[in-house]
Amino acid sequence: MDIPWWRDAIVYEIYVRSFADASGDGVGDLAGVRERLPYLRRLGVDAIWLTPFYPSPMADGGYDVADYRGVDPLFGTLADFESLVAQAHELGLRVLVDVVPNHSSSEHPWFQAALRGERRDRYIFRDTTNNWQSTFGGPAWTQVADGQYYLHLFAPGQPDFNWRDPEVHAEFLDVLRFWLDRGVDGFRIDVAMGLYKAEGLPDVGDQSFKSVSPVWGQPEVHNVYRDWRRLLNSYPGERMAVGEVWTDSSEDLALYVRPDELHQSFNFAWLQAPWSPTAFKKVIDDTLASVPFATWVLSNHDVVRHRTRYGTADPGTGLARARAALLTMLALPGSAYLYQGEELGLPEVTDLSDEARQDPVFFQSKGELPGRDGCRVPIPWTVDPPSHGFSPGGVEPWLPQPATFAELSVEKQEGDAGSTLEFYRRALACRRDLVGLIPYTLEWLDSPEGALFFSRGPLTCAINCGLRPVHLPEHDTVLLSSGPLKGDLLPPDTAVWLMTSQDARRVKG
Ligand code: GLC
Repeated sequence: MDIPWWRDAIVYEIYVRSFADASGDGVGDLAGVRERLPYLRRLGVDAIWLTPFYPSPMADGGYDVADYRGVDPLFGTLADFESLVAQAHELGLRVLVDVVPNHSSSEHPWFQAALRGERRDRYIFRDTTNNWQSTFGGPAWTQVADGQYYLHLFAPGQPDFNWRDPEVHAEFLDVLRFWLDRGVDGFRIDVAMGLYKAEGLPDVGDQSFKSVSPVWGQPEVHNVYRDWRRLLNSYPGERMAVGEVWTDSSEDLALYVRPDELHQSFNFAWLQAPWSPTAFKKVIDDTLASVPFATWVLSNHDVVRHRTRYGTADPGTGLARARAALLTMLALPGSAYLYQGEELGLPEVTDLSDEARQDPVFFQSKGELPGRDGCRVPIPWTVDPPSHGFSPGGVEPWLPQPATFAELSVEKQEGDAGSTLEFYRRALACRRDLVGLIPYTLEWLDSPEGALFFSRGPLTCAINCGLRPVHLPEHDTVLLSSGPLKGDLLPPDTAVWLMTSQDARRVKG
């Protein structure tokens, strides 16, 4: 069987608002992404995933789409998108775009029509509400002028579609065609376990985003993905789809990636695992046992950056663990999704002022939850303020960057062998060479307390999550380590790649 490109791919998530601003308005845009493609090529990723850049009132950073077939002027034009795709392809980078099928913006023409009393069946309107809550806080229902309520599982500006209406189904097939015809290599599907709600909209006890309930994970959704798969298969070039599926069961997750459905689904269990060898081992075992093509992810635009998640009182520990987790993740079978800025070791920005915050989670929870702005702070490209090279000239970025970003900037790290950026570059380059040399399967090796050792053919990976150094497993060559080794010892919060054969010569990195 030919191995599809996405099986072992490294996909880099670009949160477009925060990556690079070419227009000089303080907000990242498509031209900014295009200018930085050589940086991504040099980093060594295979594909980029662009978060929504469609026309949107930005009630949820663009995940409230008013027109599924356009580009918001904030981010550029359709011509900018087309030249971005063309240049990415020239550089050998694939391009995935986000598709948001669970809900539209309240500014979408269909919802505007619904507000006028026309075709309300494309959304979920009722005379009375149930007890469902918005994922962002507060009730999931908002009343309109004539007294009816509409359902929004996220912000009030994100009305949920009624997927039992065939027109919704047909519309999304057409939206996918629109972007496939413009050369995209695939889609990241937002809230992929959403779309259908249980008939009758019964009250719920637990509506957690992570479990199957009348709100999430209804069986009908799988027919949608079967149709989408048929459409993707009808295009040349191995187009693919990856689902954002939050679920607490690996068996449920597996349903989304049956051979006639999605190609991949995010594996959030990996990102949710605490810093513990047993927790890591369990997720790895469950994943490899349940899905044919594994994926791994440590950070994205919705969660606290992993450097901070793993950090204790000492920020250095967080960075050491983040680097060790990366090396471990890149040694696992399957593909990995990186989030912009993790290659710089960016931490979560935790001290944003209330005035600076923009995430609806902060407002809908009435300030109880900080929201997700802390992982969305614009990328520092250069040392100098005000924007560290994010915007041209003296423009301030849409979210303020902390002064510590200067030291973490690309400019500062480039060429410094000890930097996290150069570590990522080396790790990705080695991995590229390794992919052809090692089997997809993984074998556990005896590991001392606190550590986890596994091998894939001639590659052995060891991570030490414990408090004491451990002896390295048997090897011929040390390929790469996430931090300094002490002779034959692997210090705490460190991971290493070892080769047990002469194959090391074939891994140049
Ligand atoms: C997904 C997105 C998140 C967004 C939500 C609603 O979880 O990743 O950013 O707020 O869907 O669209």
